Order: sequence, then structure tokens, then C-alpha cells
Amino acid sequence: MDSGKRITFPLMLSVGTAVIGSLQFGYNTGVINAPQKIIEKFINETYFERYQEAISKTTLTAIWSLAVSIFSVGGIVGSFSVGLFVNRFGRRNSMLMANVLAFIAAALMGFSKMASSWEMLIVGRFVVGLYSGLSTGFVPMYVGEISPTALRGALGTFHQLGIVVGILIAQVFGMEAIMGNDDLWPLLLGFIFILALIQCILLPLCPKSPRFLLINKNEENKAKAVLKKLRGTTDVSSDMQEMKEESRQMMREKKVTIPELFRSHLYRQPLLIAVVLQLSQQLSGINAVFYYSTRIFEKAGVEQPVYATIGAGVVNTAFTVVSLFIVERAGRRSLHMLGLLGMAVSAVLMTIAMALLEQLKWMSYLSIVAIFAFVAFFELGPGPIPWFIVAELFSQGPRPSAFAVAGFSNWTANFIVGMAFQYVEELCGPYVFIIFTVLLLFFLVFTYFKVPETKGRTFDQISAGFRQTAASGAEKHSPEELNSLGGADSQL
Ligand code: GLC
Repeated sequence: MDSGKRITFPLMLSVGTAVIGSLQFGYNTGVINAPQKIIEKFINETYFERYQEAISKTTLTAIWSLAVSIFSVGGIVGSFSVGLFVNRFGRRNSMLMANVLAFIAAALMGFSKMASSWEMLIVGRFVVGLYSGLSTGFVPMYVGEISPTALRGALGTFHQLGIVVGILIAQVFGMEAIMGNDDLWPLLLGFIFILALIQCILLPLCPKSPRFLLINKNEENKAKAVLKKLRGTTDVSSDMQEMKEESRQMMREKKVTIPELFRSHLYRQPLLIAVVLQLSQQLSGINAVFYYSTRIFEKAGVEQPVYATIGAGVVNTAFTVVSLFIVERAGRRSLHMLGLLGMAVSAVLMTIAMALLEQLKWMSYLSIVAIFAFVAFFELGPGPIPWFIVAELFSQGPRPSAFAVAGFSNWTANFIVGMAFQYVEELCGPYVFIIFTVLLLFFLVFTYFKVPETKGRTFDQISAGFRQTAASGAEKHSPEELNSLGGADSQL
């Protein structure tokens, strides 16, 4: 068990290289926020050159919204396609191949100004969305499969850390003084080329997933060699034994397709949990903040909204690091619940601050505190945990399909919030965050009743827990019972 806690260089290299994919996702999520006016100006000028008339406000808004939101459409398609790649090409090689998309997107967006084509910008956003959607499956899957059980949550959180650092870098680079200006915005968008290049150089140095080698390819010696490197020890018998056990189960399950995943009562519980946790992440309202924070701060009377937005990015990153250090001790279930509860309280505070702004000027400070707290609580649990828990809830056979369904749910909810928030906000005014409060409380209750603790348990023990509950009429069991069914006690 102790060698199972060792952080070796090959392990960190592999995790670090994989999460460049997460960094790309975060970067492209955040990059479009600050330079909006400048890129709109480019669209405006291009339109005039082409048609010798000024663009109407509606057309401009339509082109802009499309450029922003088509990223999530790419994400929906990409995440749903994860299963097509990972079993055929393996986890590592799938990540490598996906970079073709990143290069294409970088070229399309980077040269759109030169070619006077906003169409290239839109297509580029779609293509990088495809890449990001694939990454949200590939990265947590690969990281989950190479990590020792005792570090799976901490290393799994690196995916989210990659995302938040990506958002932060984009926010900083997007400042006018850096690249958010007329001349350099194509470079700001084309910058992803460099990240793709680094990932392509480093990935061949990273091992393939030992689980893929053993369970999917039946290459025992290669799997053993990889494990020895990753664990930094010659005795990898307990890892091997556990994987063989999973492999034995796989003989019975084989590869599970998406329709099979829905049909089998074996997977009903973990699938429901995986999907609802994805929804809890997105419908918490987090991206209402990350897509529209500058506007929200402006409305709340904050004088320097851009700096407040960057402040939110810093808090976001800091608390992901906090989560990384406590997730193996506090557990997934409790951190997720704490995060949801804290977000609900912060959302109420935010509403109070917005509603009283007219009467009390200092409410704008309360709104900043509330938004920062909202973001901080998000990163304690609802940010990182849904991503990596999918790998934990499913064994090797159904895992790729489960990632596809979970990713699809996440990206679809992301798209809906991104599209609908502005309209709903117009309808509800300062009370818009009450909707998220209600949703957050619902997810809190769901987590309390349905989500088992997965900390410290092997993949095989977790799925054994679900198998047994499925066999004995799942609904009657509490999460605590699920824990003991999976043999958690012996591990803790
Ligand atoms: C999560 C979400 C992503 C969001 C980010 C904010 O990774 O999936 O949509 O933008 O957290 O930190």
C-alpha cells in the first residue's frame, strides 16, 4: 500500500502531459471573454469590406454568440465520441491523435484575421471544441487508470487544475496590454498551437495505460513493465492482481456499448450518479460566472470589473489546489456536499447584494465576496470531483461508454447555461441566482442519499459494491451500505 502512495517522476510526467488537454479546454473556455469588443470590431470591419454596409446589431450579436457557443457544440460531439477512440487506439495514442484537431483549430483561428473571415473563427472554435470534448474523456480516464488507488482523487483533481489554470492564463493573456488588442488577438487564439506542440513532444515519452495493456490487449509483460516505472518499485503484484480481477470480471462484461449501458440494471445506479454529478457541476451556475463575470461585476457596481474577473480566476485556481490536498482525506462525497451547500449559501448572498444595490452602495463589495465564495466552494468539490469520479464508478468494460454519456451530459448542460443565462437574467433580474440555489439544494439531497464514498477503494471494489446492490434490489441501500459492500473498510 505504501509504494502505492509514491509520486514518481514517470507518474507526474504522464499526469502533467495529459492535463495539457485540460489546459486547452480551460484556455478556450476563458479566452473569448475579454477580447469580445475587439473581435466584434474585426467582424464589423470585415462585413463592411464585403458588403459595403454596416453590420446590424442583430447580425453582429448572432455571429458573436455563434462563435462563443459553437465551442460547446464541438464539446458535445467530441465527448460523445470518446468511446470510438480509446479502445481501438488506446488512451495515450488517442490523446496524441486528437492534437491534429488542435493544430487545425489554431490555424483556422490564428489566420482568420489575415483571411478576413469570421467563418474561419467560427469553424476553429468548433474544432477546438471537438478537441476539448475528447479531452474531457481521455484525460480523466488515462489519469484514473495510471494512478495508484490512494492517489486517484488527488491526481484526478489535476484535470480540473489544468482547466482552471487554462482559464486564468486566458484571462491574463486577454488583457489589452498583453494580447487582447487589435494586433495580437489572432495570436491569443492561435496560442493553443504551442500547447499542442508541447503535448505532442511529451506524450510519446509517457507510458500507455497499464489497464489498457492488460485488460484490453492482454499484454501482461508490458503492463507489468509500465507499472514498475509508474510506481517506482519492482513489486507491483497487488496492482497486477487487482487488474487481473477486473479483467476476469471483464470477460463476463466485455466491452459495453452505450445502449447496453442504459439497458443493463447493473449500471443503472452508477450511471445515474455519474450523470447527476455532471449536471450538478454545470447547473450549479459556475459558467454563468465564468462566461459573464465581467458583466455581472459591472451590474453589481464594481469599478474595475476586469480585475474582479481575474480575481475570480485566482480564487478558482487556489481552491482547486486546496481540494487536491484534502480530497484523499475528506473523501469525495463530503467535499461535494460541502461545496454544493457553500455555493447555495453564496448564491443567496449574491442575490441579496444585487437586490439591495440601489439602496446600499457597499453591497457591491458583498457581491464580490459572494462570487468569490461561490467559486471557491465550487472548486472544493463540484468542480473536480464529477470529472474523475466517472472513472471510479465504472470498471474497464463500461468505462469508455460511461465517459461518453457523462461528457455528453456535462457539455449539453454547459451549452444550455451558456445560451440561456443572459435571457433568464433579463427576465429575473437580480433574482436569477435563486434558480441555481434551488438546483444546488436538490443536488445536495441527491448526493446525500445516492452517492457512495469511493475514496481508498479499488475500481474493482467499487463496481463490486454496485453489482451486489443491483443484485439485491439497489434502491433500499444507503451509501454507507454501498461502502461496506465494496469492502471499503479494509482499505481505509
Ligand atoms: C469545470 C467545468 C467548466 C468550468 C470550470 C470552471 O471544469 O466543467 O465548465 O468552466 O470548471 O473552473
